Amino acid sequence: MLPAHDLTLLGFGPHAYPMLVELAAAHWGKEAPHLRIQVIHNLPASNDLLEGVMPASWNSPVFTPLEKWQPSEADGTCMLGVLREPAASAVWAAVHAATGLSETALGVMVHPSADIAPSAVLGPGTWVQPNATVATMSKLGMCSYVNRHASVGHHNVWGAFSRINPGAHTAGSVVLGDRVTIGMGALIREGTRLGNGAVVGAGSLVLKHVGEDQTVMGVPAKLRIPRSPAS
Ligand SMILES: CC(C)(COP(=O)(O)OP(=O)(O)OC[C@H]1O[C@@H](n2cnc3c(N)ncnc32)[C@H](O)[C@@H]1OP(=O)(O)O)[C@@H](O)C(=O)NCCC(=O)NCCS
Repeated sequence: MLPAHDLTLLGFGPHAYPMLVELAAAHWGKEAPHLRIQVIHNLPASNDLLEGVMPASWNSPVFTPLEKWQPSEADGTCMLGVLREPAASAVWAAVHAATGLSETALGVMVHPSADIAPSAVLGPGTWVQPNATVATMSKLGMCSYVNRHASVGHHNVWGAFSRINPGAHTAGSVVLGDRVTIGMGALIREGTRLGNGAVVGAGSLVLKHVGEDQTVMGVPAKLRIPRSPAS
């Protein structure tokens, strides 16, 4: 069967949507306005939400509720359509529970201007935006996201659903757990480990290991201590 859609996005965020469609089009060398997109959603979603955030001339996506979706060859390439935590891993868990879809069914989308070392491994569902770099022997887990002008140094090991925002850099041998977010413009020193769910603030310089679910920020990065409700 010929696919009815070029791309099926699992989950929907109105601002992420046009960026991901443009990236998919660049990956395939096609025109973004003409791609045939399906969106699988487990929360209410509609074309109205794309007004003003997507050019009016683009094809409108077909919205299919998760409970009515049965994965098939008609879907084309499947990718996550939401990339921020905690939404990304939650959408994947819902899709997997409802359909049994395996992570190996996901595609990989890399902008042609990105520089991916031949020895690097990108997990299924990974998106790599323009001018990003992934260096020698790095291994990124499923549904990783490497944003514009970000670079992943050599011998990094990433868990699942981790992302590096625009212009941030990890040095060599950095280890990320699952669901880690590195803020835009941050720098991570070589050999540093960031635990599951760690968050690095924009513009930070991370010199020490970051524990599970900790947020660090600043130069050098320090632990964010949440204010007590009384203060
Ligand atoms: C670190 C971060 C997660 C903290 O978010 P938050 O918990 O909502 O923090 P708040 O905005 O309430 O700020 C709390 C304090 O931290 C400070 N702060 C916030 N972000 C900071 C950063 N990146 N570096 C240094 N200090 C920071 C604030 O100035 C504030 O200080 P104060 O208590 O002295 O007034 C967030 O600011 C951040 O940097 N996110 C990454 C953004 C990004 O990469 N966006 C690109 C998306 S593509």
